[in-house]
Amino acid sequence: MTELGKLTESANILDKVSKKYISNLIRKDSFSGKAEQSLLIHNVPGCLAERVLLIGCGKEKVIDGVRFRSIVDNTVKAIQHNNIHETVNCLTELNVKDRDLQWKIRQTVEIVSHRLYEFAEFKTDKSKKRKRLKKMVLTIPSKRELAESEATMAKGKAIAAGVKLTRDLANRPSNICTPSYLVEQAKKLEKEKKVLKVKALDEAAMEKLAMNSLLSVSQGAVEPAKLITIEYRGAAKDTKPYVLVGKGITFDAGGISLKPSAAMDEMKYDMCGAASVIGTMSVVADLKLPINVVAVVPATENVPSGTATKPGDIFTSMSGQTIEVLNTDAEGRLILCDAITYAQRYNPTAVIDVATLTGACVIALGKHATGMLSNNDALAKQIFSAGEDCGDRAWQLPLWDEYDKQLESPFADMANIGGRDAGTITAACFLSRFAKKLNWAHLDIAGTAWISEKKKGATGRPVSLLVQYLMDRC
Ligand code: BES
Ligand code: MN
Ligand code: ZN
Repeated sequence: MTELGKLTESANILDKVSKKYISNLIRKDSFSGKAEQSLLIHNVPGCLAERVLLIGCGKEKVIDGVRFRSIVDNTVKAIQHNNIHETVNCLTELNVKDRDLQWKIRQTVEIVSHRLYEFAEFKTDKSKKRKRLKKMVLTIPSKRELAESEATMAKGKAIAAGVKLTRDLANRPSNICTPSYLVEQAKKLEKEKKVLKVKALDEAAMEKLAMNSLLSVSQGAVEPAKLITIEYRGAAKDTKPYVLVGKGITFDAGGISLKPSAAMDEMKYDMCGAASVIGTMSVVADLKLPINVVAVVPATENVPSGTATKPGDIFTSMSGQTIEVLNTDAEGRLILCDAITYAQRYNPTAVIDVATLTGACVIALGKHATGMLSNNDALAKQIFSAGEDCGDRAWQLPLWDEYDKQLESPFADMANIGGRDAGTITAACFLSRFAKKLNWAHLDIAGTAWISEKKKGATGRPVSLLVQYLMDRC
């Protein structure tokens, strides 16, 4: 119900058969329809269901997509709070601005499974596991919509599974989730999905390819670095693929430019880019999209040691360009630049890299929008609208030459940092120097990939966005 007292169709029917039981509750001010309000009522006269959960939908005359998402999210919260195991969900009846039934169904599937997610792998007391919602039925207007709705549900479930995979990988600590572990997980996915081809380069192979920028980050670590590729072919062999590059720093201590210890544990999440492109490949395989897609994951730790890179050290990247490493904590760009150069061998239609790249992005956009920068406006628009569509949104920042100048170095072709100003943009400017021949976009997920504090955990973003973008290209 909305604050204006408008009931959905099902609520109206229920009100009628129950002889105004619901309107009476409203009249007595037990329920106002405010957003985030919910009321569980028992033994409604004339109703077969044991319990009915009334959901407030807020005061807006028109419910938009964002509002709908939060209504569904609050509903699942209330379902969990009330220990409901089986339910019929009538919220698909809500009129949502510019959105159709299928959109509402897919969103519902994604949001419900997102809320039900738990990461308890390292809890010994399994009995504490919350009693979960087991079954939810969604209502549709008529039988005519059934086939399409079921197909949409399957799609939503595939996406939800990819998001879950991403969150699991990201939440695992760095002593488990090492670069070699990511290789194993990719190989496991290859076995499960059958339509994926996984390869992993070791350090010797990367040396042969002259990936010295990537190796400059791993040289301080005992854990060996890996470069993982996951190939999916859903179109003709000679169809140019989409390449997704995911930052896979399994732990970012900062290297010799050591990070302060507060919240350093969260740097296990510095492989969320990698986790998200792996999760996306799982969805692409499940949906059998008629396109070609490749994931490239450079994976290493960034830790200090006697063999670690020191500030001022200079390396020649795979592209031949030289880099003065002024801050070893700006390591993401160092592994991504070689991965982007490597991506060129696929002759891609577009390359999108995904990375928890800069703390500055969290300052600029907070945890709501992923930062997006691109050397191709059409590509940026496609990513933007994919985000608007699926609710996993990105916001573009400028990639102007003025910013690029901040990367000048007196000793090498460029420095790996561009000073305090516009840290997200200068990081992207650095990457763009390796993407000149490509249609390329960069997603900075530093603010969106995980949540801190009490409810600490990975979000699975931007799997939805990437999948939506790829589906839109089919
Ligand atoms: N992984 C971090 C970015 C990060 C920090 C993401 C905090 C999310 C939360 C990245 O490798 C890093 O350390 N970036 C530096 C760059 C700086 C040295 C130019 C940063 O943002 O401070
Ligand atoms: Mn760092
Ligand atoms: Zn990092």
